[in-house]
Amino acid sequence: MKKYTHLAIAPALAAAIASCTGSSALTGSPENIIPLPAEYSTTGGSWTPAPGATLAVEGVGSTDSARIAARLNEALGFALLPARDGSADIKIECGPDDGKDTGASDEAYSMTVGKDGVTVSAAAPAGLFYGAVTLGEMLKAGDGSAACGTVTDLPRLAYRGLMLDVSRHFRDTAFIRKQIDAMARLKLNNLHLHLTDAAGWRVEIKRYPRLTEFAAWRDGETWKEWNSRGNRYLEAGDPDARGGYYTQQELKELVDYAADRYINIIPEIEMPSHSEEVTASYPELSCTHEQYGQPDFCPGNEATFEFIENVLDEVMEIFPSKLIHIGGDEAPKQAWKSCSLCAARMKKENIADVDGLQSYLIHRVERYLNSKGRDMLGWDEIMEGGLAPNATVMSWRGTEGGERAAADGHRVIMTPGRYCYLDGYQDAPASQPEAIGGYLPLATAYGYNPTDGLPEQAKPYIFGLQGNLFAEYIPTASHAEYMLYPRMYAIAERAWSPESVTDYDDFKRRASWLAADMRANGYTTFDIDNEIGNRPEAAADDHHLAYGAPVEYNLKAWRNYPANGDSTLTDGRHGGWNYNDGLWQAFIGRGTERMDVVVDLGEEKEITYVGADFMQICGPDVWMPAKVVISAGTTRDNLSELISIDNKVERDSVVSFKNFGWNGNARARYIRYEADADSVAGGVLFTDEIVVR
Ligand code: ACM
Ligand code: ZN
Repeated sequence: MKKYTHLAIAPALAAAIASCTGSSALTGSPENIIPLPAEYSTTGGSWTPAPGATLAVEGVGSTDSARIAARLNEALGFALLPARDGSADIKIECGPDDGKDTGASDEAYSMTVGKDGVTVSAAAPAGLFYGAVTLGEMLKAGDGSAACGTVTDLPRLAYRGLMLDVSRHFRDTAFIRKQIDAMARLKLNNLHLHLTDAAGWRVEIKRYPRLTEFAAWRDGETWKEWNSRGNRYLEAGDPDARGGYYTQQELKELVDYAADRYINIIPEIEMPSHSEEVTASYPELSCTHEQYGQPDFCPGNEATFEFIENVLDEVMEIFPSKLIHIGGDEAPKQAWKSCSLCAARMKKENIADVDGLQSYLIHRVERYLNSKGRDMLGWDEIMEGGLAPNATVMSWRGTEGGERAAADGHRVIMTPGRYCYLDGYQDAPASQPEAIGGYLPLATAYGYNPTDGLPEQAKPYIFGLQGNLFAEYIPTASHAEYMLYPRMYAIAERAWSPESVTDYDDFKRRASWLAADMRANGYTTFDIDNEIGNRPEAAADDHHLAYGAPVEYNLKAWRNYPANGDSTLTDGRHGGWNYNDGLWQAFIGRGTERMDVVVDLGEEKEITYVGADFMQICGPDVWMPAKVVISAGTTRDNLSELISIDNKVERDSVVSFKNFGWNGNARARYIRYEADADSVAGGVLFTDEIVVR
């Protein structure tokens, strides 16, 4: 007998487990699937269905019955036959909770696999579907056999999401269907489509044809090309036009395809910002009425609200989703400060500042959505100036926004960049296709617990967890899959499985199998079996001569990336691949701004080496220094130059790490390290440690 549980076991199930005998660890066992079920046991032996096997689905309508059968047929590779005489090989029955302690969730189910067949029961069709998914995954893992035993399962979080950015690079509907198929395997239940952004409007809106005649088409195949050519749009028929959009019919078909897999599609329509493509098509909707360079709608103009409501009307007609995402992120709000309509709105509505204007727009749009029976979802900036009363918050800039919203009784979907942004590097950057930056290996994604650190009363408001694939640096469909898998497996498991399921080695074993299986089925995945891992320097503390020495900052570090404060540069800790890991300190270098620090060794020492590493990652504008000067001396006011290094910043080197140091012999107590960014190109300098030997 093999038993594994993360939940208190209901007495009836405990008795069933206790009566089983035999050995276990069959390949078709629940212990091999993702997400790991809440509770399972294997009893020895297995069940192997063959063509001709029969299926009975009872207690649900024909639509759900067909969906469940389709799921099983797909997993089996042949079509189950309808049972005739009540003796089905697979019996799927919907009924009231039968006391198996599956909880109240519509997605809960229980399953028994015996030598002669399988029974799945649940209180609602979604639960039956997830039971069928589990059985399908067990059969796939077991090469057509499922281990005998029981599974009692339910999701930890009600919302388990994936966001695809189809604005930065348009993807065809076949790609989206393929990812929906993968989502179903992972028991993910919400696909969030980032349908609009500066790089292209992707949804047909009949009332505003310029959105798809013009805003959906751009000068540049890739986001990088488009960006380097000045972010211009082209008429649909222009031979250089690149991009595309989904017709309303195509989107409705996608909604149905997803619903067949118990997945809801949430449309995102960005406002008040990330809307350059809209204001280029309808310039009167921005404060300046200029065609280009206007990210924000004008919240002072009634025409803005007329546009938003008309667009949302058509969007709600396509998407039945209760949640409608209105973006809300990263509005610069600059033009609002000098716009007469915005000023008039602020006066009339007694609004103090531009944050209040954003809040006015968000609240007003929320009222509109609520009046249509929908709920608003937005990025955490929708809290600026006061959160709309019924809104759900997607916490992306970190976890703090989500924590505050949860504490205030708002539903929260956690998707903090550090753990859930799948556009960052997943391995040593030099070994990977160009990414936007960062470093998010599988283990980090798996290590995130969305309720960590929250007060007990806030935890129930953590409604979901989501992985986001923004796509500025992801031009192709196969590259997108490569970024999604296996990291989406981690998000799916942390969202579904009980909080106590945290064993990364066991997860990685299952992820390795699932990735191989998906590759065999035509997906591209990252090769987790040959992962390089974090920067080797980050592995151990370095107790060099300046370890623990005080550092005097002649110029302050950039407060956005303070790392470990004033001790960062001598704390003996080297950074990893990610400037976000709390070990790299930033200095903004634009000509006059630079890095300039003095390390005090406390006493005169013989030194043979002084050096520091810098990183370059082009996407987020992180560049190598153009010049480094290292000086040393026995008194603070009398330092001599040890070395001056001129560096040609290789602007086509996407990502690199480089040491700038001196080797020689000297006696010194004080060491000054200066670094300048390129005086023209500027950029951020990042270094992690000044090493003295
Ligand atoms: C976002 O990443 N701007 C939501
Ligand atoms: Zn305005």
